[in-house]
Amino acid sequence: MSYIIRPWALEDLKAVMRLVRESASLHKALDQVKTTPEILRDEGFRKDATFGCLVAEVSPEQRSKEGDAIVAYQFHYLTYCTWDGRILFGEDLYVQPEFRGKGIGSSLLATAAKVALAKRCSQIRFISAAWNQPATDFYAKLGALNVTIRNSWNLCSIEEEHIRRLAEPATE
Ligand SMILES: CC(C)(COP(=O)(O)OP(=O)(O)OC[C@H]1O[C@@H](n2cnc3c(N)ncnc32)[C@H](O)[C@@H]1OP(=O)(O)O)[C@@H](O)C(=O)NCCC(=O)NCCS
Repeated sequence: MSYIIRPWALEDLKAVMRLVRESASLHKALDQVKTTPEILRDEGFRKDATFGCLVAEVSPEQRSKEGDAIVAYQFHYLTYCTWDGRILFGEDLYVQPEFRGKGIGSSLLATAAKVALAKRCSQIRFISAAWNQPATDFYAKLGALNVTIRNSWNLCSIEEEHIRRLAEPATE
């Protein structure tokens, strides 16, 4: 299997959006996907892009059943820890089922690691679903520690309605 890992380009938008939706389906969360190719284009390709995206592209003769050469992606962005400084957050890592077990996921993370070093990050962080044992095993092989268990952390989110309510006194 020959493939290259590279930063995404504008012509990859549709293929990446399809993979984002496949990944959401795996999490039974397709109804929660509100991004569109246009939103990803506006956020991902402007000068101060919100995130970076790496893609795996196979040779034309190895295209997927749907005819796409983009078969995997990895999203990341910079975040900051007051204790550790810069952190690269890995938002998503997804390889299409027929291309798994061929080193593509590891290669994407290896390239993300180069991005992390280039941006002077001290950690790569990500969220992995507790039910997803294959992913847990995959990440453990690459050296990931489960800090939720080690540090007794809870992942919390203030969602839009509550953000608005919370901001009201501050905007009066
Ligand atoms: C998890 C995932 C990204 C791994 O990508 P991949 O291209 O299949 O992984 P690789 O071929 O690079 O495998 C790297 C190592 O992990 C192991 N591995 C990969 N998938 C595995 C699985 N399902 N179960 C156990 N080990 C696995 C491989 O055996 C390999 O180990 P080795 O180097 O000792 O042989 C891919 O299976 C995937 O997209 N899964 C669905 C989405 C997902 O779970 N994403 C991560 C959580 S957000």
